[in-house]
Amino acid sequence: LNRRLTLTAASLLVGLALAGCGKQEPAAPAAASAPPPAAAPRVLVVGTDAAYTPFESQNEKGEVVGFDIDVVKAIALKAGIEVKFVNTPWEGIFNTLELGDRDLLVSAITITPERRQTMDFSQPYFEARQLIAVKSDSTVAKFDDIKKLKVGVQNGTTGDEVVGKLLGKSSTDIKRFESTPLALKELEAGGVQAVVADNGVVAHYLANNPGGGFKTVSDAGFSTEQYGIAVKKGNAELLAKIDKGLADIKADGTYAKIYASHFGAESK
Ligand code: ARG
Repeated sequence: LNRRLTLTAASLLVGLALAGCGKQEPAAPAAASAPPPAAAPRVLVVGTDAAYTPFESQNEKGEVVGFDIDVVKAIALKAGIEVKFVNTPWEGIFNTLELGDRDLLVSAITITPERRQTMDFSQPYFEARQLIAVKSDSTVAKFDDIKKLKVGVQNGTTGDEVVGKLLGKSSTDIKRFESTPLALKELEAGGVQAVVADNGVVAHYLANNPGGGFKTVSDAGFSTEQYGIAVKKGNAELLAKIDKGLADIKADGTYAKIYASHFGAESK
């Protein structure tokens, strides 16, 4: 009896299936009418030049850490997106967006009109300005004073840009390094007499290298810079999620907590 029932049920199912097929478009494969499988959300790849403490660096375990990283992790949590961070050399970092190798860039990137032509930026998440590092016994008191000196910068940064304006872009007195720490090491070694880079990084480096014999010189002529998170030009959907997440972490105090944990409670 059982077996007969099973057979009956089976033939009934086949019958139903055939009847169902009959109603479909003749050439449509069965899968086309099925709802798409719930695809696992793709992990977004975030590129960062992790030689920029306290914004991004690599710890002893090889993990990418820093203020920028915490900000993007918090945004991702709010936005319901998954991210992973990949150390990416500054040189060529913007191309990785174009190539699709990276979905996002967070790297203390200053939003500039030139960069806006080739990529899109989130709302600003951090304010910075240039700062000059010189040896403690240097007579440099303002930006103009470095005009006759050998100056170290990180290649292709806003520091490179302002120094290029002062000394002339092709001046042989500009020494361009692939990272800001390398430029600062060269200052210590005496190969350059000044380094111009973002204030947060210069100040952090000096505080952590008390033996380096450096001091900083600020200049009111430097304009304020705004850091933004970059996406491929036209990726409005992702940008909207990032901006929403950023607004959310600013509104609920998460941003302030992250800020305090990296820069202390004092406001900049
Ligand atoms: N804010 C500067 C710029 O956008 C320097 C950024 C360098 N960032 C880094 N992670 N190396 O040009």
